[in-house]
Amino acid sequence: MESLQEDVRNVISASHPIVYFRTDEEIEVLRIISQEAADYLLFSYDEIDGVRWLNERNYKNNRRVLLRVRNQLESLKPDFLEALSFIRDISRSERTIFVVLSADTLMKEENPQSQKSIRFIKNLVNEIKGDLVEDEESLLLSIFLISDKLLIPSLLEKDILVFEADYPSRDEIREILDEFLEMQDLSLSDELKVEFVSALQGLTRSEIENLLFLAVINDGVLDDKDVDLFINYKKQIVRKNAIIEYIDVRKLPTDIGGLKNLKEWLERKRDIFKNLDTAIKYGVDIPKGVLLFGMPGCGKSLASKYTAKLMGLPLLRLDMGRIMGPYLGQSEENLRKAIKIAESIAPSILWIDEIEKALAGVKGGSSDTVVRIFGALLTWMQEKEKPVFVIATANDISAIPPEFLRKGRFDEIFFVDFPDDKSIKEIFEIHFKKRGKNTNSIDLERVLEELRRKLNELEGKLSNHKGSGGQEDFKVLKKLLKEGKGYSGADIESIVSEVVENAFLNGKETISTEDVIAVVRKSKPIVETLKDKIGDLYDRCEKIGAQPAD
Ligand SMILES: Nc1ncnc2c1ncn2[C@@H]1O[C@H](COP(=O)(O)OP(=O)(O)OP(=O)(O)O)[C@@H](O)[C@H]1O
Ligand SMILES: [Mg+2]
Repeated sequence: MESLQEDVRNVISASHPIVYFRTDEEIEVLRIISQEAADYLLFSYDEIDGVRWLNERNYKNNRRVLLRVRNQLESLKPDFLEALSFIRDISRSERTIFVVLSADTLMKEENPQSQKSIRFIKNLVNEIKGDLVEDEESLLLSIFLISDKLLIPSLLEKDILVFEADYPSRDEIREILDEFLEMQDLSLSDELKVEFVSALQGLTRSEIENLLFLAVINDGVLDDKDVDLFINYKKQIVRKNAIIEYIDVRKLPTDIGGLKNLKEWLERKRDIFKNLDTAIKYGVDIPKGVLLFGMPGCGKSLASKYTAKLMGLPLLRLDMGRIMGPYLGQSEENLRKAIKIAESIAPSILWIDEIEKALAGVKGGSSDTVVRIFGALLTWMQEKEKPVFVIATANDISAIPPEFLRKGRFDEIFFVDFPDDKSIKEIFEIHFKKRGKNTNSIDLERVLEELRRKLNELEGKLSNHKGSGGQEDFKVLKKLLKEGKGYSGADIESIVSEVVENAFLNGKETISTEDVIAVVRKSKPIVETLKDKIGDLYDRCEKIGAQPAD
């Protein structure tokens, strides 16, 4: 955080009238200001304690100032306007720094009381600049606004200098770690250092330092067990943040059935991320992201997690529903924060799952916020320079505005269909293996035959069933069922789960083909519940020119 210290020092020595520090580390910024402001009267203001004199001790030898300030403070009410009056008065003769905490809450433009404060601050800024009233002495004042949110009233836009505290980069974390190791006389292998750095990304400097101390205090050493400590901590803060969920890459799936095209495409992107610096130098565009849409339960969310595993990048899941806040500007602020976190740990993957949920309001133009949020997201995606790879998933893209799907937003759009025979087999194998069962004793071809028989049965049922869906739907559906498609990956997984459960309860060591077939016989493919939507989905897929994922 040396740069912060430098920023503060520069601001003070340049007597800048008003600056805004957006930071999650209020204490740290206050500490730095105190250090750098020894020759000033230093006051803070917050709505609970009102005005506080932070460096009273420095003034014990200057009785004139001491008595005057004490006197004035004694009769001061904790009101912000009163505080501003006091500051104006004192800074006419004494060099003063005034720090406003939680500044954003005091400057909401829609609040009449705040409007007055904003006007007052504007007057102060004018007086500091001293270019307003000829005979009046200019104020000897710098105002520091501090908050974890950035909210700048338009009246002050031109006056305020903004600083944002960044999360340390990988290299900086490495430095912090090395310093810490030296200080504690500890050592770590190079591989573990890399793991530590990844686990500590996205945290502030003081959090990193605290965690390292905590890790050592626990058991006297730093080792791979501490990575869990960091990750758990990160999960917690990210949970506090509630918009973004940090997903532990070590627990992600290493395999996925089918989706061959998607996998190949992702592998290309992985090779770019792996050699990002040389790729950029060569002229390769940094991959922006991919949109996956299609059938429910067929692996969209799974593929997102798999991507993080494949690329070995940290995965952040953004909950679009939670981005939307009830207060003016809150949603944008939430998104900004989420993006900031993702960028701070770049290269990273930002996974926006079920994007359509946030888009529910867009189509009818009923929600300005949603439109603004998406505008902001798209602009960021287009302009972003940091390597944050976006994976968005959706079931239903009918609510997504077409401009969101235009080329250039996403590198590619994939349609995730029901798995075909080959992919179904892979999915069976993956899920049996995951449960520690091998499939040598199972004839998957015969299981597939049974699945097909079920789908035929469904086709027969639908032909008799008049009036379900449109004519189009029925044609698409028929074609699907003919190809043996209609079960989702999730369907297959639940079949496997039941088979394994049965085998356990019946005390069986190995699983037979018949065991699987028995469960398939009772199963119900997801396509049955989707029958009225399917035509539309395929139609859209064609219109936007999505690539088949498999
Ligand atoms: N291709 C696949 N390979 C292996 N497992 C799969 C596959 N597709 C789905 N599954 C299994 O089904 C579960 C549900 O899949 P997933 O959550 O990825 O579906 P989805 O496409 O995101 O569905 P939704 O649209 O409902 O969000 C997964 O946890 C996984 O176990
Ligand atoms: Mg999903």
